[in-house]
Amino acid sequence: MYSGLAGRDLLSIGDLSRDDIDAVLDCAAEQKRTGSAPRPLEGKSVGMIFQRPSNRTRVSFEVAIHQLGGHPIPLFSQEIQLGERESVADIARILDRYLDGIVARVYNQTDLEGMAANAAAPVINAMTDAEHPCQVLADLLTVREHARPGAIVTYLGDGNNVCNSWILAAAIMGFELRLVIPEGYEPRPAVLKRAAALGGMEPRRWPVNTALEDSDIIYTDVWTSMGQEQERERRRRDFTELQVNSDLLKLAPPRARVMHCLPAHRGEEITDEVIDGPRSIVFDQAENRLHVQKALLTLIYAPLVG
Ligand code: CP
Ligand code: NVA
Repeated sequence: MYSGLAGRDLLSIGDLSRDDIDAVLDCAAEQKRTGSAPRPLEGKSVGMIFQRPSNRTRVSFEVAIHQLGGHPIPLFSQEIQLGERESVADIARILDRYLDGIVARVYNQTDLEGMAANAAAPVINAMTDAEHPCQVLADLLTVREHARPGAIVTYLGDGNNVCNSWILAAAIMGFELRLVIPEGYEPRPAVLKRAAALGGMEPRRWPVNTALEDSDIIYTDVWTSMGQEQERERRRRDFTELQVNSDLLKLAPPRARVMHCLPAHRGEEITDEVIDGPRSIVFDQAENRLHVQKALLTLIYAPLVG
């Protein structure tokens, strides 16, 4: 079994090498195909801190930990009160005495990093303001299943956490990522710098029609992420041209497939007709969260068994 991920944290997708990502995707595809999985988490407990709401991430991690033989312990915001009832560092030090791993969805990437710095056990990013690495790993598996090798991915919308992880993934894996992002909503400069340092192509901003002309994947996310609700009206106006609807699909070749990390704000960034239509692969994409997270946990923990 590939041991490059043994005992490691996953804070940013940019921490992974191409070999690491290939190993996760290969393991996920194999476990998905055979329906089998080892039980590297037998006798182990994994805490799951959720400072923001979640459906896919929490449930798929909880199921993944259970299927791998472990005991998932969800820790919700009102209970753990990160940085309020106790400091992030103290929480991590305490949890590290009980647990074999921490999966955390926290507002700030710096809190996640603070947690990892104070816990010897692996810490896995279940989404922060800066990144959503587990989402994009599942997305890469979905692209592999539904598109040709060398697929061109066009990301339309906000330069947010999901977009940041896509930019780093493209730099590591060397595929073409086109960004259709309105002015004022660009991805973090630190992410672009890191992508360039990884040797990746500087992701270019494209006008929507030329970007889609030969794209294989049309990817969007909500215009208003969790925590930005007060900006919703302005964002609806600024992103309106980028709604993924049936007219926009006409700009892409028939082979192009539509992806969305979900939850969707139907009628904003995507229409019912498209998300429920034959070119949408969003539910396969959501299913792959489970397979990819199982594979990730297998590779982090399996070589440590014994
Ligand atoms: N895509 C995703 O992370 O969904 P949840 O917010 O429901 O976990
Ligand atoms: N960008 C979204 C992703 C949700 C999975 C958010 O941060 O709310």
